[in-house]
Amino acid sequence: MNILVTGSSGQVGSEIKYLIQNSKFKIQNFNYHFTTSKELDITKHQNVYKYSKANDIKVIINTAGYTAVDKAQEDKELANDINHLAVKNLSQISKRLDIKLIHISTDYVFDGKNFVPYTEDDETNPQSIYGQTKLDGENAFIDSGASGVIVRTSWVYSSYGNNFVKTMLRLGDEKEELGVISDQIGTPTYAKDLAIAILRILNDECLILNDKVEIYNFSNEGVASWYDFAKEIMYMAKIDCDIKPIETKDYPTPANRPHYSLLNKRKIKEKFGIMIPNWKDSLDECLKTIGER
Ligand SMILES: NC(=O)c1ccc[n+]([C@@H]2O[C@H](COP(=O)([O-])OP(=O)(O)OC[C@H]3O[C@@H](n4cnc5c(N)ncnc54)[C@H](OP(=O)(O)O)[C@@H]3O)[C@@H](O)[C@H]2O)c1
Repeated sequence: MNILVTGSSGQVGSEIKYLIQNSKFKIQNFNYHFTTSKELDITKHQNVYKYSKANDIKVIINTAGYTAVDKAQEDKELANDINHLAVKNLSQISKRLDIKLIHISTDYVFDGKNFVPYTEDDETNPQSIYGQTKLDGENAFIDSGASGVIVRTSWVYSSYGNNFVKTMLRLGDEKEELGVISDQIGTPTYAKDLAIAILRILNDECLILNDKVEIYNFSNEGVASWYDFAKEIMYMAKIDCDIKPIETKDYPTPANRPHYSLLNKRKIKEKFGIMIPNWKDSLDECLKTIGER
């Protein structure tokens, strides 16, 4: 079976690639095509169609996305091209060529006014261009008639690429004191754990048998504010930087972010038997990996 992984130089794409190339996750008869944006631009319908047809692709794992949340407020067209219209392309191609699509979305489709973790069925109400374009991508997939899975995730970090963990490690070395937002609550997600969950879904026969789009939530277990996350990074990395809590109103950003975006993961755990690590355990693992690389 031929599997196309788009955006393979990003955090999640890189983790999937690493797992496949270095572990027992490689299943016989599964043949992976990892493509970067240069090799396969997902906004180019004809190119993706031709590539998928020529390589007899049966599953597309779309890890590509426009992920610069603040920049998207000004870069609306490009964010829409990648997060919405390109997903529409992939969905239409999947429908036409009978391909199953696994697509990644975000907790930022919610407005953050909940006080219990969001389920897959909760009402969406994005507060930013990024969140809106991601939701438009989800809906384009659902409306296309193609089938597969949408995995909504939150606060992704990894030893690959740029992310909050790496920024904190850098700033922690440069500064003695740092203010970090304490009134946005969610859960960090180690991209490696998300990659394992995606491969679990890929290996489950219900992906192939299902003829609609199922949404699943995935993040690590536990709860944190960005302040808690930063404190833990400094503590685990033994960096002597004093992390101070600050409020969102004292650190205005172009994009509004939900104050609360915990995801209820019952559905993915029950359906695929996935055991999800606590965010602190995964952070510890990621920091060790960053240290080794
Ligand atoms: N990062 C987070 O905190 C977070 C949170 C929730 C959900 N998500 C979602 O999770 C998914 C993966 O996120 P990530 O953190 O792994 O993202 P990432 O590290 O920013 O990587 C995104 C990848 O998409 C590629 N890409 C961009 N435009 C493309 C195009 N037109 N054609 C093909 N590839 C293109 C990029 O390639 P270039 O670098 O070459 O442009 C990059 O490799 C995304 O859908 C994102 O919305 C992320």
